[in-house]
Amino acid sequence: MDLERVIKTRRSIRRFKQIPLSMDFLVNLVDAGRLAPSGANLQPIEYVIVNDKRICEKIFSALRWAGYIKPEWRPAEGERPVAYIVILVQEGRSPFSDVDVGLSAENIMLLAWSHGVGSCMLGNIDREMIREILGVPDGYRIHSVIALGFPAEKSVVEESDAVEYWRDEDGVMHVPKRRIKDIVHINRFGCRGGDSNS
Ligand SMILES: Cc1cc2nc3c(=O)[nH]c(=O)nc-3n(C[C@H](O)[C@H](O)[C@H](O)COP(=O)(O)O)c2cc1C
Repeated sequence: MDLERVIKTRRSIRRFKQIPLSMDFLVNLVDAGRLAPSGANLQPIEYVIVNDKRICEKIFSALRWAGYIKPEWRPAEGERPVAYIVILVQEGRSPFSDVDVGLSAENIMLLAWSHGVGSCMLGNIDREMIREILGVPDGYRIHSVIALGFPAEKSVVEESDAVEYWRDEDGVMHVPKRRIKDIVHINRFGCRGGDSNS
């Protein structure tokens, strides 16, 4: 896949094939995160990589999935993530850490997808439980978790003003995204194109 295709076809994946991901593969994903831009180059992020089955099971119980899907839903046994990258931020090191995490996480998820590996970033997580499971010391904020594995579901974009994603009867996820014409202003706020001097 070329880069544009990787970027435009990446979707959050929440059901996974049970094919293991090697630690070498996962460290290489983190390397892509490490090389992302960082405000003032302060580099406040560290990562815990988990691919041990027992620890994956524990992490799973600290995660909340697809909040718009009702009734409450989570991946069934046999379709849960096979690895996680837990993103930590060193407290007090950078005022830009949230931006840095976004950039790093996207690098990680795009590189994964370029290898056919799906992912979902999760912020609705039990941080205290994860701290306990992984032995994360004080001084580090548990920012978010990236769940990983080969996709066992399909997700497609809908051009729409809605925000709530939904699943159809075939299990395909539909993710609304605002139309390009509704978010772009050409040369001046309010100009939608065609008359850049007005
Ligand atoms: C900061 C952040 C936190 C998120 N937290 C969760 C979460 O806790 N659980 C979940 O299932 N998805 C979570 N997501 C995934 C979003 O729901 C998803 O990115 C959004 O619906 C758009 O879909 P797409 O990633 O397929 O484009 C999160 C995404 C981001 C960027």
